[in-house]
Order: sequence, then C-alpha cells, then structure tokens
Amino acid sequence: MADATPEPTMPTDNAEQIAEWNGTLGQRWAESQRETDAVVAAFGEAALQRAAARPGERVIDIGCGCGDTALALARQVGETGQVLGVDVSQPMLAVARQRAAAAGLRQLRFDEADASVAPLAAGIDLLYSRFGVMFFADPVAAFKHLHAALRPGGRLVFVCWRAPRDNSWAMAPLVAARKVLGITPPPADPLAPGPFAFADGERTRSILADAGFSGIDLQRVDAPIRLGATAREAAEGAVRVGPTARLAREAGPEHLPAILQGIERALAAQAASDGQVSLGGSTWLVSASRP
Ligand SMILES: C[S@@+](CC[C@H](N)C(=O)[O-])C[C@H]1O[C@@H](n2cnc3c(N)ncnc32)[C@H](O)[C@@H]1O
Repeated sequence: MADATPEPTMPTDNAEQIAEWNGTLGQRWAESQRETDAVVAAFGEAALQRAAARPGERVIDIGCGCGDTALALARQVGETGQVLGVDVSQPMLAVARQRAAAAGLRQLRFDEADASVAPLAAGIDLLYSRFGVMFFADPVAAFKHLHAALRPGGRLVFVCWRAPRDNSWAMAPLVAARKVLGITPPPADPLAPGPFAFADGERTRSILADAGFSGIDLQRVDAPIRLGATAREAAEGAVRVGPTARLAREAGPEHLPAILQGIERALAAQAASDGQVSLGGSTWLVSASRP
C-alpha cells in the first residue's frame, strides 16, 4: 500500500511567511522587541561594522522588523543619507515607526512590502539585513531583485544563522519542550524558508553567485546568547519568541506549564554559578558586492 504521508512541499511564494509575520509570530516579536534586540545585538553589530555605512549613503534594511538596525544605519548615514526599512510585518513595522519618530530621524522611513518583489529605488549603496533574508521562497530570484537595486560597486551585508546543532540557544529549549510533549519531529527540510535556511554556507554562496553578486565572503561569527538571569526567565523567553515558541503555541495552552517546567529544568543544568543562562549562538556574516 502506498504511504499516505504527504511529501513536504516547498512554498512557491512568500504568502505563508507574510501571514506568519502578520499573525501571532509578528505580534510576539513586536511585544518582545527590547528582549529580542538584546539577544541578537552582537550579531547585528558585527554586520553593521562590516557594512561600515558612511554619511550620505542610501541603504535598505531588508526584513528590518522592529527597526533596531535601521535606526543604527540612519544615524550612520546622517541627514544627507537615506535608509529604507522594508518588511512584511505590520505589527513589527508599527514598532519601528514609533521608534523612528521618537528618535526624530527624518532620513529613515519604512515600507510594508515583500523585499523580494517590491519595486525598489535604484542606485542603492548598501543592502543590509540582520536575520531578515532567510524567508524567501525563491532566494535566487529574490537576491537578483535586490542586486538590481544596488549601484555598481554597491555592497550587500547580512547575518544569518548557521545550523541548528551549532545554536544551542535555540535547540536546548526546543529539545526539552519536545521531550515534555513526547514528540520526535520528522526530519525538517533544511532548505525550507525559515531561520536556518542559509545555514549551508556553500548553498548561500551559490545563491548569491547565481543572483549576480561577486566578492562573496562568509565568516563564522559565534557569540554566547544570554537567555535570562534565571533558568525560569530563559524558559519564559523561549516560549515567547523563537523555534520553541511555535511548538508551544501549536501544543496548546494546557501544555504550557509542563513545557516551561521541562525547559527550566534543562536550562538550569546549563546555568552559570550565578544562575544566568547563556547558550551558544552561531552565524554567518555574509558580504558581497555588485560588480
Ligand atoms: C527574524 S526577523 C528579524 C527582524 C529584524 N531584522 C531584527 O533583527 O530584529 C525576520 C524579519 O524578516 C521579515 N520578512 C520575512 N520575509 C520577508 C520578505 N519577503 N520581505 C521583507 N521582510 C520579510 C519578517 O517580517 C521579520 O521582520
């Protein structure tokens, strides 16, 4: 008899991601902006340093989310420059716009748009992204589109996650939650749009080459990620945002207390002597340019 389990299919457009980032996922990110920014700050900073935006430059922050790095870029390019943050998530863009207004940065604006297809101004000096480029259904087409926005000599700099096994900040809580729920997940498609879609450095390199970029460089950047002052705080963060949050949502609220307890126990075993929980984070810092 034929196996009735449907084969996982790759999405043909970004509709599913756009719905996710406008649903509970985007809402949670918007609500947790401060905590999330703190968690990924070191990686975004490494990419900002590599990008070295200069006064007067025109920059696009792809998948800018709640605007943290777009604000930083706007300060770097100054009043003679321009920064456009592009994102599909209404709740996250609402936070970004509030922050930009509070900072009085007139050189910064935001567009709600799918960066892989939206009309973009030409002659851009820098395309930047902190964890915002791994969600395209067709990455080569998306990067071709982005490449066309760059001026000749313009640069691309982004940071993306390396493999889950190198990111214990994400996997330790997830494994603990799965254990509580008694779940053995089916093997995931490592190429499917999502946080780890660019984990394979060679694939990322070939996507960018196929899209027309040159001078492609990938550097591994690892840093500990502080999940909380206590294992309990770290567990609460894990079920709010990130891979474990989705599992917890899908399991239903009746399982949340047990999931939290299971994660807390697992993380307590890895806590420092003062109770703080910091686990490993591993990324690729990717840079390239338009010839
Ligand atoms: C992991 S979050 C990172 C947000 C932000 N860059 C940060 O570091 O806080 C990924 C972001 O990519 C955005 N995104 C996903 N697909 C997108 C697309 N096709 N076009 C523009 N933004 C997209 C999401 O809405 C989300 O804000």
